Amino acid sequence: MIGIFDSGYGGLTIFKEIEKKLPQHDFVYLGDNARTPYGERSQSIIYKYTTQAVDYLFSHDCDLIILACNTASALALRKIQQEYLPKHHKGKNVLGVIRPLAEEVGELSKNSKVAVLGTTSTVESGTYVEEFENIDRNIKVIQQACPLLVPLIEQSKENSPETSIVLMEYMRPIKKEEPDVVVLGCTHYGFLQNAIQNFFGDNTKVLDSGKVVAKKWIEYLENHPNIVSPATGEPIRKFLTTNSTEKFDIAAEKFLGRKIKSKTIKLT
Ligand code: DGL
Repeated sequence: MIGIFDSGYGGLTIFKEIEKKLPQHDFVYLGDNARTPYGERSQSIIYKYTTQAVDYLFSHDCDLIILACNTASALALRKIQQEYLPKHHKGKNVLGVIRPLAEEVGELSKNSKVAVLGTTSTVESGTYVEEFENIDRNIKVIQQACPLLVPLIEQSKENSPETSIVLMEYMRPIKKEEPDVVVLGCTHYGFLQNAIQNFFGDNTKVLDSGKVVAKKWIEYLENHPNIVSPATGEPIRKFLTTNSTEKFDIAAEKFLGRKIKSKTIKLT
């Protein structure tokens, strides 16, 4: 079973693409909607919440966890891989979303100017800047924190006038820099993919993070077939949230275009 974790709904943008490519696998999606946004929290809190999710998913039959959340990937993944897994879940794998996106940018163009939009914690962590430096020292990175977007998307207001106004405020200074590529470094922003691409126009490529991450991790799983096997019977789909199921089901149904019946769990 593959576990996909996000602080809220944002990881559904990653789940949707991975599920399309691996329909025969079992999946459980976990959204910590009760404690979102993570993006304004400290590193130690983000690490604590993420390890709680990791414990939950590994103790509920997951063989592999994908941290679909950029904030958790930026602030907790390395420590989880280096310290937490060897101690608490030896032999298990947790993957993130930042490395695959940085690699894709590196493959797309050399010497490019890249704009990264993310939560305050992701931007301040400098993780994207570090990853780009490892890939191509000539990539110029501009970052923009967009703290008001996640709360709006968690309230299912992605198509509302207030979201457009906030989005334009964040995008305008970035557009002036004429980036070649824009990375949506927060899964929630995937809900605004078309609006952002339209705003930047054809000379700027706004990466579809869900598609890129799905492509990269599927390549990885093909090269490591022992990590997780396809379902033996009817593939399982479980949706878990730390908040109300009614809210989760409405948002997930709207985005995935099918009936969803989630369950509330507690992370401790
Ligand atoms: N969806 C998460 C991300 O990709 C963060 C949203 C939040 O602030 O909780 O960064």
